[in-house]
Amino acid sequence: MRAINEITITDAVLDQMSTTPDPRLREIMASLVRHLHDFAREVDLTPEEWLKAIGFLTAVGQKCTEFRQEFILLSDTLGLSSLVNALHDKRALESGTKSSLLGPFYRQDSPALPLGTCIVKNPKAPVIGIYGRVTNSDGEGIPNALVQVWQPDEEGWYDLQKNDPQDMDLRGSFRTDAKGNYYLRTIAPLGYMIPMDGPVGDMIRAQKRHGYRPAHIHFLVGADGYREAVTALYLSGDEHIDSDTVFGVTDSLVTEIRKPDSSSPLPDLPCIHFDFALAAKTAQDLSGRVGADPSQIIKKAAN
Ligand code: BEZ
Ligand code: FE
Repeated sequence: MRAINEITITDAVLDQMSTTPDPRLREIMASLVRHLHDFAREVDLTPEEWLKAIGFLTAVGQKCTEFRQEFILLSDTLGLSSLVNALHDKRALESGTKSSLLGPFYRQDSPALPLGTCIVKNPKAPVIGIYGRVTNSDGEGIPNALVQVWQPDEEGWYDLQKNDPQDMDLRGSFRTDAKGNYYLRTIAPLGYMIPMDGPVGDMIRAQKRHGYRPAHIHFLVGADGYREAVTALYLSGDEHIDSDTVFGVTDSLVTEIRKPDSSSPLPDLPCIHFDFALAAKTAQDLSGRVGADPSQIIKKAAN
């Protein structure tokens, strides 16, 4: 019989879990237990502290609904979502547009819209354009690529946070033309504070962090045979561009709204011009989404 103490407990758990038939599950769980145990030993975790953490995680779960995903918010604010994105990008065989956070406000089934449509039902700020190409890693245009876009309004609110969260606004799905071009109308979003009325907000306040994300527009771009790009374009000049609460900004995703330009497909509008490059898909590539439509996560958990 093994003497269980604060050191031998780790091997005892690893031995018992070594029967796990799925090799990847075995690897992930063994590493998780090793790191969790090391963490508890490093900080000399007390029962009160662990119970407080369990209360916190319970509150995170209780805050989740089909319109709100507090666990994704936790992963985002701990930098874990961005880390998983960076690992995903590193695994690609070809270089493509860098990933950024999917965030908790993505929705499946946003309306399919013809190129050029405005994604805002009642714009209360000047309309701008966004255009560019979806290409492969050699710069060749990809026809019929799916470009899903979603963003907050001019005050920093997503449709999911408004009075009727069923009402879809500020989002749409476009298809590139035969040359891989896309273009759409929208408004410039405002940066916003992440949802702070839950346990993750309590954590952010306890750490004296500001809680803001810089202004950005989300994109999910995909085409058959290519890795899906889950990313966002950030607006330069935002005061929080270098201190995003969820670590989503990287230099290649920072863009500017430029003056109207006769060579643009929306020549009368100030526009953001950005080309998305998709890397070829490999047999190992499943999804690059760190997160999902909250309603889909709830549905899966219930089954
Ligand atoms: C977002 O960009 O939608 C977002 C990402 C992480 C946390 C909160 C919001
Ligand atoms: Fe966002």
